[in-house]
Amino acid sequence: MSVKKGIYIINGAERVVMSEYEKDTLASVLRRIGLTSVKVGCGTGQCGTCTVLVNGDPVRACIKKFRDIPEHTRIETLEGIGTASHLHPLQQAWIAYGGVQCGFCTPGFIMSAKGLLDKNLSPTREEVRDWFTKHNNLCRCTGYKPLVDAVMAAAALMRGEISEKNLEFTVAEGGSIYHTRYPRPDALYKVLGTADYGDDLALKMPPGTLHMGVKWADHHHANILSIDTSEAEKAAGVAAVLTYKDIQGTNNLGAPMTSKMSLAKRVKEPVLCDTKVRRIGEPIALVVADTDENARAAAKLVKVEYEVLPFYKNILESFKPGAVSIDGEAPNDLLRQPVFKGANTQAIFEKANDPDSGVYVVEGSFYSSRQPHLMLEPWSLQAYYDEDGMLTVNYKSQTLWAGMVNVPRAIGVSPKAFRIIEIPSGASFGASMDHHAVAMIAAAEMVVKRPITWTQTYEETQRFTGKRATSYTNAKLACDKSGKILALDFDNAIDHGANANSAGNLEKKVVRFIGYPYNIPNIRGLSRGGLSNEPFGVAYRAYGSPQCYTSSEQLIDMMAEKLGIDPLEIRYLNCAKEGDLTNNSYPFKNYGIKTMINKLRPYYNESLEWAKQPAEAGWKRGVGVACGGYHVSTPADRSEIDIELLPDGSVVQYNCWEAMGQGASIGTLVHMHEALKPLGLPVEKIKLYQNDTKFCPPTGPASGSRSHYMAGNATILAANDLMNAMRKPDGTYRTYDEMVAEGIPTKYHGEFSTVGLYKAIDDFTGVGDPTPDNNLLAIIARVEVNEETGKTRVLAIHGIADVGVIGNFLAVEGQAYGSMMHSIGFALTEDYCDEVKKYGSPLGCGFPRCNDVPDDIEFEFQETPRKTGPHGSGGASECFQSCGHAAVLNAINNAVGVRVYEIPATPDKIKAALKAKAEGRSCAPERYDFGEDYNKILDEALERARTEQKHVETAEEIEEEIRSGGH
Ligand code: FES
Ligand code: FES
Repeated sequence: MSVKKGIYIINGAERVVMSEYEKDTLASVLRRIGLTSVKVGCGTGQCGTCTVLVNGDPVRACIKKFRDIPEHTRIETLEGIGTASHLHPLQQAWIAYGGVQCGFCTPGFIMSAKGLLDKNLSPTREEVRDWFTKHNNLCRCTGYKPLVDAVMAAAALMRGEISEKNLEFTVAEGGSIYHTRYPRPDALYKVLGTADYGDDLALKMPPGTLHMGVKWADHHHANILSIDTSEAEKAAGVAAVLTYKDIQGTNNLGAPMTSKMSLAKRVKEPVLCDTKVRRIGEPIALVVADTDENARAAAKLVKVEYEVLPFYKNILESFKPGAVSIDGEAPNDLLRQPVFKGANTQAIFEKANDPDSGVYVVEGSFYSSRQPHLMLEPWSLQAYYDEDGMLTVNYKSQTLWAGMVNVPRAIGVSPKAFRIIEIPSGASFGASMDHHAVAMIAAAEMVVKRPITWTQTYEETQRFTGKRATSYTNAKLACDKSGKILALDFDNAIDHGANANSAGNLEKKVVRFIGYPYNIPNIRGLSRGGLSNEPFGVAYRAYGSPQCYTSSEQLIDMMAEKLGIDPLEIRYLNCAKEGDLTNNSYPFKNYGIKTMINKLRPYYNESLEWAKQPAEAGWKRGVGVACGGYHVSTPADRSEIDIELLPDGSVVQYNCWEAMGQGASIGTLVHMHEALKPLGLPVEKIKLYQNDTKFCPPTGPASGSRSHYMAGNATILAANDLMNAMRKPDGTYRTYDEMVAEGIPTKYHGEFSTVGLYKAIDDFTGVGDPTPDNNLLAIIARVEVNEETGKTRVLAIHGIADVGVIGNFLAVEGQAYGSMMHSIGFALTEDYCDEVKKYGSPLGCGFPRCNDVPDDIEFEFQETPRKTGPHGSGGASECFQSCGHAAVLNAINNAVGVRVYEIPATPDKIKAALKAKAEGRSCAPERYDFGEDYNKILDEALERARTEQKHVETAEEIEEEIRSGGH
């Protein structure tokens, strides 16, 4: 190794830098000297998280060889532009405009923006967007719009057109921060670059910390004949090599299948593969060594002998008769969830065979792709024994206390001696609901008993983590001549990939959200799920509902076209109104969708006029509409928090409200401030202690749009108990000292539960009332499609949502804008399969850049107060990603008259569809074949409901019960 000594002007001052001549990049050098605002995301020059300024120009430091930078070069990082007491205008604006969510992209964006403003202090919005696009600054959380807003505001401040006051939020004395644009507490350290993400903590671990390398499976599907670790054990620096034999617990992270219709009790998800591999990139062996290089090198020496088995790249292949069981025991086609509503579905579709029946039917087969989450931070974890001897893992868990159940059992440690600390997260969107990485590093820690740190490459994270499960739908919809929906019939199959991570739950989402939020009087449908040899399906924002809307929101457009009805009006006609029942035969929790559509109508009409205007040569304009929504919480949900009065009169909340960038800190803060309002505490007197299982109670997962609702209700309960304890007979409040002097406890526990209040979806019939609340969304998209190239550009998205009273506008808008970006990606570009060269990077997976997302995104909120929600709020996040992609798909059809049934709607697919249309052919896929006949499965399910449950609830029975006050 040769070392170069050099002097550089770093953040305005000379610094001596010692670099490894052959290998060091600008990023590795800057991070080594402590400038960890420089984040390494993709590591291949695609994402811009590592952007710094070199002589004033943005440079992606991860691909810049340090040896190519001359001495005395001027290098600027985020650490050099502002301090907590003297923020740079860009940092102030990033906070004020909601530019910070997970914050992993923030340093790179701010430095890139500084590079722009240093050259041009009066850029247009288009110039800002072009700059970010040209410099590959990617953000997965914000939808880019708030970032452009922030740059424009910072420029105005720097030009002296506005003052700092314009970017500050002032709380009136005794005023509320609920329902305002109060900035999130974690924004400050993220704009300063001092938030330590996983790989930043790796640099701060004590000397002697070990590193981990992994022997990943080389085949999609194979039996393991032998594993030889002898060479790896002898390699330089190796402390230990682990195989499944070294895992001290069950070595199985697979959750039980609880549905009575499931054909398996549990599907295996081994911590380390034992007898089989089910997908490329499944872990087989772990190597712990003194350096990252040695650990990776030794992992390559682990030899595995395989018997290669057939590779089933989807469930259409793995469900075929005679296919090998991917699990080894459970059948590949293992999950079934029927739904029945009304008694007339079959009769209505039979009647439609008569052309004079007045029943109109559209049908189609639709596919939703394996959308990757594309968080910019690769997985990075540490494991160690803490000062009390607890086996501790730093991880960006999205469900800490589920990890506290699954992982200890799998690796053989007592949950009481186990601890997970959530570290700042470069986003998740559902991916870190999975704890496989935690189990791996913790199992290794149990063997070596010395601290371990493990950072994956972006490509490894892409391979290792779950994705949105793919979905195949055969569906048909029947309406009368007016467009009123009569019946829906569907057969859907979810491809869970190589294991059944949270499967079962997903099948139940399908029977809830296909056709939601319409009143469909008759439904007969089956939601199936099973295994293939592709990456496993895992939670992803709006879990399960986008797959539903790919089919149902296109079918309703197809029906509008068939009947010559406007697409918005057919939706208005069918939207659920008071008294209508969900697919699952219970009342909706909120019926605001008709008024939402009314509010959206003026923009829709304007859009139709816009579409009539000529576009640029070669492009055609189209307008698409879609309705959707999601649920909030579940029928078996619990949320616990603690609050404590401190000696200085401040109040701290302890919770495990996992912070993925979505706003756990601001959510906790606004609820606390509002709930404790009688105490008149200034915001600064409210403190947060979050996401460490040693000190914080189980608040539940950051999923299912539940956190704001559940933790908020728990906060109100605890706050009331604290205030009751503090209240004196004269109505004033005791101080901490007075409480202590009187022996009154200063710490209170709040627990809010939905258990027993709602009804889970029935395994046989799909009947149920599985949520305390629902939210609603309606979206209009304007697109242009180029008939020659097949390319689509989305020019505007306007939406209206009803998520209850908004707790914090910046956080909710952030979810809305970010979701639109994911939806556009889902519709047009994003996909994942195990061709690592293409899909191992953000852009390879179709990550939308700044100019791929419109600047014209607007949301209106219809804030119907929720009766059971804290401060009138419901839950927000997931409805925003439910149906936006369908609006884009419908707009494409409106523009050029072709429908894309199998997303993403890439230029090739659009060109093929246009060609087929020109030749008078259909481009619709054939009906998918899922093997076993769905009518037979549905009949069996009804029979079992009668014999095993002795009772089948029908829509009529439910209605009768509702009328008699039973529900
Ligand atoms: Fe450097 Fe992605 S561009 S980490
Ligand atoms: Fe931009 Fe998360 S805030 S990636």
